[in-house]
Amino acid sequence: MNAPPQILIATYNPGKLREFRSMLAGFPFALRGLNDFPAVTEVEETGSSFEENALLKARGYAKQTGHLTLADDSGLEVAALGGAPGVFSARYAGAEATDSERTLKLLEELSHTGDAERRARFVCVIALANDATPDTQTFKGICEGRIAHSPCGTQGFGYDPVFIPDGYQETFGELPASIKHSLSHRARALAAARAYLLERFHTHA
Ligand code: IMP
Repeated sequence: MNAPPQILIATYNPGKLREFRSMLAGFPFALRGLNDFPAVTEVEETGSSFEENALLKARGYAKQTGHLTLADDSGLEVAALGGAPGVFSARYAGAEATDSERTLKLLEELSHTGDAERRARFVCVIALANDATPDTQTFKGICEGRIAHSPCGTQGFGYDPVFIPDGYQETFGELPASIKHSLSHRARALAAARAYLLERFHTHA
């Protein structure tokens, strides 16, 4: 029997890797993470859009490992802040800051912003690249919601404790992971990428 095709999930973020593994459970591919490739050099996210950064990472890691690579770039866009933190979501409070420091900075920036103006959305772009062919694909997912007034819940990662998705009164930090995985920006981008992968590899899951 042939070994299943391998896909590198290009992230060092354990929260993200956990989500990808859970959402791709039952998928007929062997998933590897960047920690399986200690010799790899980190690809810098120098792009000015989620698409550019996702492509930089997918191409850069596919080139270094020779594996079909799935990379995502994601972040939070807050309407009252003109779309910030956007592509700077991971570095919003400085390179060394923690998730809770970033979240507190966001709440501080919005401390004079009323309920009606706390609209926000998570955006995720997934890029697929293969070193053997120049062919690359991108898939986008968006999850609309609003920013809470204080952090709630311990589920998920990043800005989850302050993001309330449309249709709910609780944050992603409070909602079960199964709900987040059914409507998140990453789940939506991944659904499109998954359909493409299954078709391309002529396989069924
Ligand atoms: P990336 O690794 O460059 O894509 O960084 C994305 C950053 O956006 C993360 O470090 C988080 O701060 C934030 N982010 C992206 N997706 C999520 C999510 O699903 N929940 C909470 N925060 C997220």
